[in-house]
Amino acid sequence: MKIVQYPICAVIPVLILIASLACKGQDAPANSGNVQPLTEHWEKPVPFQKVPRGLTTLSAEECGKCHDEIYSEWKSSFHAQAWQDPQFQSEWAKDDSLWVCINCHIPMVNQQPEVVRGKIDGDYFRPVKEKNPSFDPKLRGESITCAACHVRDGFVLGPYGNQADAPHAVKKDTEHLSRQLCFSCHNVTDVLNPSLVCVFNTGNEWLEGPYPNVQKDCITCHMPYVERPLSTLGPARKTRKHLWIGSGIPKTQRDQIEGGPPVPEYVRGLDVKIEAGRKVYQRGKQAYFTVILSNQHAGHLLPTGDPEYYYTLHLDAIADREDTLVTKTFRIGQEWEWWPKARKLGDNRIKPLESRSFSLSFVIPYEANEVKLLTRLITHRMSLENAKFNRLLAGYPLSALIFEDEMVVLKRNGGNRL
Ligand code: HEC
Ligand code: HEC
Ligand code: HEC
Ligand code: HEC
Ligand code: HEC
Repeated sequence: MKIVQYPICAVIPVLILIASLACKGQDAPANSGNVQPLTEHWEKPVPFQKVPRGLTTLSAEECGKCHDEIYSEWKSSFHAQAWQDPQFQSEWAKDDSLWVCINCHIPMVNQQPEVVRGKIDGDYFRPVKEKNPSFDPKLRGESITCAACHVRDGFVLGPYGNQADAPHAVKKDTEHLSRQLCFSCHNVTDVLNPSLVCVFNTGNEWLEGPYPNVQKDCITCHMPYVERPLSTLGPARKTRKHLWIGSGIPKTQRDQIEGGPPVPEYVRGLDVKIEAGRKVYQRGKQAYFTVILSNQHAGHLLPTGDPEYYYTLHLDAIADREDTLVTKTFRIGQEWEWWPKARKLGDNRIKPLESRSFSLSFVIPYEANEVKLLTRLITHRMSLENAKFNRLLAGYPLSALIFEDEMVVLKRNGGNRL
C-alpha cells in the first residue's frame, strides 16, 4: 500500500467543538449552580481497578513479558496510541481539555489525574472535579491498555477462566469481552451542546446490516483467530489477533519512511471492479467505463466511525502519458456543518454488501497515440480544509492510497481489444 501525502496535516475531533466556549470553568466550585450527576456510561471512566493477585502492576508492559505477541500487536494498534495521538492532543487542547474525551481514550480512573463528580447545570464545560490519588501517569501513557478491557474486580477476565495455568487471578467473562465492549466506545451518539456532538454509530450500522444473522461481529472480523502460544509459558492454541485493523491511514509519518515501523496492516473493506463499456475502442469514438465499489468485507457502513472520514474515487482518462482527457472525482462519506449548530448535511456511505457504480465517458481524440484509464481509491482521515483549520503537526498523514489500477484502453498503432 502506498501512502499519499499532503503538505499539511491535522485533525478533526470526533466530538467536535468549533465554538469558542464562554464557560470554561474547569474547577468551578460545586456550590455555584445545580450539580447534575453523570448518567451516561461514557461520562464515567472504568472505576478504579486494583492489581489482580499474582501481578505487581496493571501496566501493559508487564502483561507483555508473558503475552509477548499479543503485546506487540496491541502496541502497534490505534488503541495503544489513543492518548498520544497527535490529532487527539491537538483537538483536545482546542476543546479546552474537555474531560469526557478521555473516558474513551484513557478509559480507566487509574489513568486520569482528576475524577469528575458531576456537571454544574448540566454543562459539560463546568465539571466538578477532584484530584485523583490513584492516578498512574505511566498507565495513562498506555492509552486503551490491556487492563482497560481485561481487568475488573481483582481478576483478569478472559475467554476461558483457566486458573490452573495462569500465574494471575483469572475469571471467565465472555459477556464482558464481547461486542458490547466495542459498542461502549464505538456506538455512542449524543448532543453535548449545539455545536458539540458525539457521533459514533458503528454498532447500530452493524445491527442494521446482514451480519448479526450470520454471527459475524466486531470481534469476529477485527480480532480474528490465530493459532499460537497464548503466552511465552504455554503451548500453541486458539488466540485472537489484537491488531484491530481499521482505516489503514497511519498515525505517524515515520511509518512511511524506510526502516521505520511498518504501515499498519490493512484489509480493504471495498472491492473494486472496473468494467469496460465496449470490447474495442477506436479513435474518434466514445469510450465509457464503470467502476463498481462493493462493501464486501466490512460489517458496517464505509467509511464508519469518525464523521470526518471519507473516500475519494478518482477516474482519469490519460492520453499519451500526460494529457488528461477527462477526470472525475467522487466523494463517499458524511458531510457535516458544525457551526452554529452541528447537523448532518449529507451521507452517501456504502452499506454492507451494497455495490455502487461510478462511470466515466469521453471521446478518444483522433490524434491520440495511447490512451489509459487510471483508477485510484483514496481513504481520507479529514479534508485538507479541516486539517488547516486544526493546525495540526506537519507530517500527520491525512490519507492513504488503497487501490490503484492502470488500464490500457487504446494501444499505440491501433485499437485495443480489452
Ligand atoms: C508472568 C507471566 C504473565 C503475566 C505478567 C501476565 N500473564 Fe496473563 N497469563 C499468563 C499465563 C501463563 C496464562 C495462562 C495461559 C493458558 O491458559 O494457556 C495467562 C492467561 C491470561 C488470560 C486468559 C485467561 C483465561 O483463562 O481466560 C488473559 C486474558 C491474560 N492472561 C491477560 C493478561 C493481562 C491483561 C496481563 C497484564 C495485566 C497479564 N495477563 C499478565 C501469564 C502471564
Ligand atoms: C464483516 C467484518 C466486519 C465486521 C462485522 C465489523 N467490521 Fe469494522 N471493519 C471491517 C473492515 C474490513 C474494515 C476496513 C475498512 C476500510 O477499508 O477502511 C473495518 C473498519 C473499521 C473501522 C475503521 C473505520 C473505517 O471506516 O475504516 C472501525 C472503527 C471499525 N471497523 C469498527 C468496528 C466495530 C466497532 C464493529 C462492531 C460493531 C465492526 N467494526 C464490525 C470489517 C468488519
Ligand atoms: C479493546 C479491548 C482489548 C484490549 C485493549 C486488549 N484485549 Fe485482550 N482480548 C479482548 C477480547 C475481546 C478478547 C477475546 C475474548 C473472546 O475470544 O471471547 C481478548 C482475548 C485475550 C486473551 C485470551 C487469548 C485470546 O487471544 O483469545 C489474552 C491472553 C489477552 N486478550 C491478552 C491481552 C493483552 C496482554 C493485552 C494488552 C497487551 C490485551 N489483551 C488488550 C479485548 C482486548
Ligand atoms: C475504551 C474505548 C474503546 C473500546 C472498549 C474499544 N475501542 Fe476501538 N478505538 C477506540 C479509540 C479511541 C480509537 C481511536 C484511537 C485513535 O485513533 O487515536 C479506536 C480505534 C479502533 C479501530 C481503528 C480505527 C481506525 O480508524 O483505523 C478499530 C478497528 C477498533 N477500534 C475496533 C474496536 C473493536 C473491535 C473493539 C472491541 C473489541 C474496540 N475497538 C473496543 C476506543 C475503544
Ligand atoms: C464515546 C467514546 C469517545 C469519546 C467520548 C471521544 N472519543 Fe475520540 N474516538 C473514539 C473512537 C471509537 C474513535 C475511533 C473512531 C474511528 O477511527 O472510526 C476515536 C477517534 C478519535 C480521534 C482519531 C481520529 C482519526 O482520524 O484517526 C481523535 C483525534 C479523537 N477521537 C478525538 C476526540 C476528542 C477531541 C474528544 C472529545 C471532544 C473525543 N475524541 C471523545 C471514541 C471517543
